Amino acid sequence: MATIIFPGSFDPLTLGHTDIINRALGIFDKVVVAVLENAGKANLFSLQEREALIREEFAHAGQRIEVDSFSGLLVEFAQRKKTRLILRGLRAISDFDYEAQMALMNKSLSNEVETLFLMTQETYSYVSSSLVRQVASFGGDVGPLVPKGVNNALKKKFSKKG
Ligand code: PNS
Repeated sequence: MATIIFPGSFDPLTLGHTDIINRALGIFDKVVVAVLENAGKANLFSLQEREALIREEFAHAGQRIEVDSFSGLLVEFAQRKKTRLILRGLRAISDFDYEAQMALMNKSLSNEVETLFLMTQETYSYVSSSLVRQVASFGGDVGPLVPKGVNNALKKKFSKKG
């Protein structure tokens, strides 16, 4: 059974992420969405919130999606999940340097690990979690860029703060 890990901060999940996950479900038996704990970083959504929003969005996929969190090295998480495959989305050339560095670093940490890339659908090539957070914080409409549950959660976050 081919299992692939899709790691990230997911603060929050965007339609760019869901596009990659859905396409990966068409190729692999199981996708483990690995949410980075980011203990030192100030996230908008807590780890539990980020995980819950992903679970809600992929409830229909049943056992074929697992949402888990990790801290520390991704290659060690991959070993615990008994897979060698890591998936990342590429939006544009500008993503390439960072992604190549991570893939090569992971390879040097564990030679058996392979990082696979899917090009993000063009419609979402400009979407990032950080821009979504910024626009939503100023009251901009990010509805077309994130799942419904995430849009509602963003509205709640910023109406509480505002
Ligand atoms: O969504 P992001 O923030 O671009 O995801 C980055 C992530 C989580 C894939 C990356 O920061 C990561 O793998 N962190 C774990 C630490 C690690 O393994 N570092 C060595 C490889 S760069």
